[in-house]
Amino acid sequence: MARVFSGIQPSGELHIGNYLGAVRNWVALQETHECVFCIVDYHAITQDYDAGQLQTRTLEMAVSLLAAGIDPERSTVFVQSHVPEHTELAWVFMTVTPLGELERMTQFKDKSQRQESVRAGLLNYPVLQAADILLYRADVVPVGDDQVQHLELAREVARKWNARYREGFFPEPQPHVGAGRRILGLDGEAKMSKSLGNTIGVFDSPERVWELLRPAKTDPARVTRKDPGDPEKCNLYTLHQYFSPPATVREVAANCRGAQWGCLDCKRVLADHIVRTFAPMRARALEFAQQPDRVREVLADGADRARAMARDTMRTVREAMGLLPASEVVIRS
Ligand code: TYM
Repeated sequence: MARVFSGIQPSGELHIGNYLGAVRNWVALQETHECVFCIVDYHAITQDYDAGQLQTRTLEMAVSLLAAGIDPERSTVFVQSHVPEHTELAWVFMTVTPLGELERMTQFKDKSQRQESVRAGLLNYPVLQAADILLYRADVVPVGDDQVQHLELAREVARKWNARYREGFFPEPQPHVGAGRRILGLDGEAKMSKSLGNTIGVFDSPERVWELLRPAKTDPARVTRKDPGDPEKCNLYTLHQYFSPPATVREVAANCRGAQWGCLDCKRVLADHIVRTFAPMRARALEFAQQPDRVREVLADGADRARAMARDTMRTVREAMGLLPASEVVIRS
């Protein structure tokens, strides 16, 4: 069975962008693949963050993943910092990664522009990501568009390490991107992202969903209710295609083009379908949130399983690289 690995930062809520772009595909891949899913807290600390909140956010992300349908009986779910081999392999990979490749990463360029002093962790972020994936020798990595370039780097790291130390050891992991590969935020311009404040959370209450959707951007040509719109230019029409049944989607398009509906009418229908889609997940999240011990147990068990796989990989890596095994050191007193 081919192996899947993917990760998500505990940097806030599960929103409809990372749900449609990634987590929804993770859930589906459990049917056909051996899956390893990781909450990447070491990635989250490469940008300014609130240390007092990180534990809570990590546990909340675990609850979100379980509520979304990640099944710990079938998949390994764990927290990155619980498996120290991630950072160990990242160091090893830094010794084969060309600096120029890291400097040309789009996310690094974007994020570093927004910071006064750029820290090494941000530059090396994709090396840790390559280590995450290759530690489990994963073949398939379900992600959104924004991670595809990092996956290219992971393949290059695998090739470089293999060429220098052991041909064929690390597979070249392939991205798995689906229809929701780039969901735009409610501003209709930028990628939906917690840090941009343009998200709808999967677990938001019906009231909150409406509060967020009401002012959301639509086709700019629709200034008044009587102006006919072009659904293809409206981000909310795209969202209808994910959440509303096909007959409703057709109705929305016709009523937008013919100006029978105003944007608020269309948004009401969308809000209703978003809430309906996520209602079962929201109920499950409330249940898991009331059983923190069960969630901790899932993570502990996941870390145990992940560590066993990680140790196997590191044994070969150390041996191939000529590192002296700790077990061979005789301590003379
Ligand atoms: P993160 O936490 O930003 O996002 C998690 C996943 O959600 C996808 N995603 C989106 N997809 C479509 N539209 C959007 N608006 C949207 N926003 C987020 C992301 O592409 C991602 O798949 N570096 C990664 C985490 C990571 C990782 C890994 C992923 C660390 N190690 C190893 C895969 C394999 C990140 O920051 O994702």
